[in-house]
Amino acid sequence: MIQGSGDIYEKVMDLAKRRGFIWPTSECYGAVAGFIDYGPLGAMMKRRVENIWRDFYVIQEGYYEIECPTIAQEAVFVASGHVKGFSDKMCQCPHCKEFLRADHVAEGGGVAGAATMANEMLAAAIATCKCLACEEVLGKVEVFNFNLMFKTSIGPGSQRTGYLRPETAQGMFVDFTRLLRFYRDHLPFGAVQIGKSYRNEISPRQGMIRLREFTHAEAEIFVHPDQKDHPKFSRYADYIMPLLTATQQEKNEPAVSFSMQDAVAQRLIANEYVAYYLALTHEMLVKIGIRPDRLRFRQHLCTERAHYAADCWDAEVYSDRFGWVETVGIADRTDYDLAAHARHSGTPMTVFIQYGEPKKVQRRRIVPNMSVLGKQFRTKAKAVFETLATATPTVDGADIDVDGEKIHIPPELFEVRNEIFEVRGEDIVPHVIEPSYGIDRMCYAVLEQAYDEDIADGESRTVLRLTPCVAPVQVAVFPLMNRDGLDTIAMEVTRTLQKKGLLAEYDDSGAIGRRYRRQDEIGTPFAVTIDYQTKDDRTVTIRDRDSMKQVRIAIDRISETICDLVNGSAQFSSL
Ligand code: ATP
Ligand code: GLY
Repeated sequence: MIQGSGDIYEKVMDLAKRRGFIWPTSECYGAVAGFIDYGPLGAMMKRRVENIWRDFYVIQEGYYEIECPTIAQEAVFVASGHVKGFSDKMCQCPHCKEFLRADHVAEGGGVAGAATMANEMLAAAIATCKCLACEEVLGKVEVFNFNLMFKTSIGPGSQRTGYLRPETAQGMFVDFTRLLRFYRDHLPFGAVQIGKSYRNEISPRQGMIRLREFTHAEAEIFVHPDQKDHPKFSRYADYIMPLLTATQQEKNEPAVSFSMQDAVAQRLIANEYVAYYLALTHEMLVKIGIRPDRLRFRQHLCTERAHYAADCWDAEVYSDRFGWVETVGIADRTDYDLAAHARHSGTPMTVFIQYGEPKKVQRRRIVPNMSVLGKQFRTKAKAVFETLATATPTVDGADIDVDGEKIHIPPELFEVRNEIFEVRGEDIVPHVIEPSYGIDRMCYAVLEQAYDEDIADGESRTVLRLTPCVAPVQVAVFPLMNRDGLDTIAMEVTRTLQKKGLLAEYDDSGAIGRRYRRQDEIGTPFAVTIDYQTKDDRTVTIRDRDSMKQVRIAIDRISETICDLVNGSAQFSSL
């Protein structure tokens, strides 16, 4: 395995461009940083990653997928806090004029605590740091906040401001009351969404890691604020994985492995819901091909947590080029978003929770003497009654304020009664647990970790060791010779495999060794070869990309066998 060499990035990106995984967008006009195209193989691989995500969240968790517009009106992002606060600190290099993220400059120059520094202080702290583009010492710079949202106008005449969404999450929050009804008014429930999010990143120079348009896959799970025990927690209670808690980071200690059960019991993770989705994320990332030794979960320090989060963890994947890269964020967003949208929109975003048994509660009720007060206040009487009902009277009566007018109500004109009420339940604002995945970062990590070079038949070979479930082409079919009926049989085999829903690629051009190499380079896990023996005994060979070993099996079993190998229910070594 190639490891620890910074030039893997160049090799991976070269292969990605050459073989049609990823390339810069609108290259003929000069590429624009932060935008990429997925080519034929990349788009297929990405779709497979997204579908594995869907399998975990939609099929296994039962959270239905919705699809909201990628542009929303300004009110949504005023309420969510993005208009005011979704910004990064920016400065401009006085030498090369490049705009830079001031916190990244600080990080590069070994300045700690940039996240909590005021702009002037950060400007002073980075004066001795080098520009990340031209590497000159910055000197005197100004640091200011740059909002990352792309602004647009909705309709002609620019009357209405809109924004391209910076996260898919808000669509699910503003749809809360409809989702609640869909789930028949019961907590917990979840909704998920995969789609594009947009962030006008200041200086996107990290390829697929930092894009201005990227694919977000988010789940919003609405739970009772006092019931954060996951009903299926036993699935992951004993799941062990590396955690880098806030305390460990403060002490400069490395990540330590914990079971989810212990991590919750020791209060390292806030609750079972967060722990459950940390473990599910670990399982999913390993499934798409991330090596467990290159995966850790890092808790946010309280100084870096988003404005809405009570506890937040990042799944970080180690990259040869970029070091530890945040790939998934998992947060307990509390009731921040629903409460904010309820406040701004005037639509209550609550769930009625019925008690097991109705509760008897004592309540104080102020009963006004309606006939006297009614005559006295006439048109204002209704407002007086309503205000009096919430007043705090003394033995001398009640002093109330109605539309700015101070009114004294003497004690003989109302009665304070303590009454027993039967209460069936209460309205609560749910809390939200949110696992938020960056599909492009997952795809980059998959490609980087799969990239390998070894020797095959005495020649060096480039191989993408993609796990079969994400490989774009799942099986290649080769006739040994392009004649004597071998090509006809190979085409029939290809068709049989395609009918099973497999992406099978027929290739009859060039020497067989060259054909294997071409498929190895794009990560095709299996190749089926039809040779002269096939005509005698109706068997074909299956060749395994990684071990380069071959086995013969009956042609009738080929599609079933390849399906099992691709979906992981059979291993090549056990054939
Ligand atoms: P970073 O600190 O790296 O900018 P973030 O903390 O802003 O990331 P989140 O807001 O938590 O990221 O978004 C959730 C996930 O979305 C991230 O873990 C990442 O995988 C993905 N993501 C966020 N911004 C980008 C981007 N500009 N390009 C590609 N993926 C992104
Ligand atoms: N929805 C989480 C984030 O994008 O920050």
